[in-house]
Amino acid sequence: MTNFIKDPVVMMAERNPDPVFSNDELVFSDQEKRLIERWKSQYPTVDGAIMRVLWLAQEKFGFLPPEVIRLTADEVGIPYANAYGVATFYTQYYKKKRGKHVLDVCTCFSCQVCGGYDILHYLESKLGIHVGETTDDGLFTLQEVECLGACGSAPMLQVTNGRYVMDLTHERVDALIDTLRKGKTPEFTSVTLPQDEDELGGNRRSDVKEFQASSPRPVSETVR
Ligand code: FES
Repeated sequence: MTNFIKDPVVMMAERNPDPVFSNDELVFSDQEKRLIERWKSQYPTVDGAIMRVLWLAQEKFGFLPPEVIRLTADEVGIPYANAYGVATFYTQYYKKKRGKHVLDVCTCFSCQVCGGYDILHYLESKLGIHVGETTDDGLFTLQEVECLGACGSAPMLQVTNGRYVMDLTHERVDALIDTLRKGKTPEFTSVTLPQDEDELGGNRRSDVKEFQASSPRPVSETVR
């Protein structure tokens, strides 16, 4: 009879890097713990809170190395694998340390045909880095991303999971980089969407009532 030897568990270096944060640093404050408990109470099961807790952890630690993901999993009370799965699914969660400003340049369909790659390459040459890299001064990380839902203002980019900068030209990119280097936030521009029948040219949905009635009620309120 063949002797089956169970494969030993192989620790994969890229999934088990040396910790960045010490045990002393790996703590949530009492205030953060109270907030997390509140979020957990707002969902039918506690795992519903994991995205918010990962976000909180990212804002606190800057990114989510394995030991921070483990901290969030323990705090929420779910297996590490579940928290890891969420953190690695969404590009908005940073698994590696990024620069102070992360420039997400959209190169999806609309942005691509409107010059998204031109903007991306312009930024590469202006900052002296390639996509996925961070400038030596730690100020900028450049990323290429899929559609960010602002196709009508293509080409566009997003700054560190926040502000959208749209209708990009080389001049706008120059102004944006100057603004960020001065420690300022790029000016917010409101985009007006068509609100009434005339603006929509009569192309309004006719099943709005049914659509709204079938929408699930929000489970949680916005608390931050
Ligand atoms: S294709 Fe760039 S925002 Fe949609």
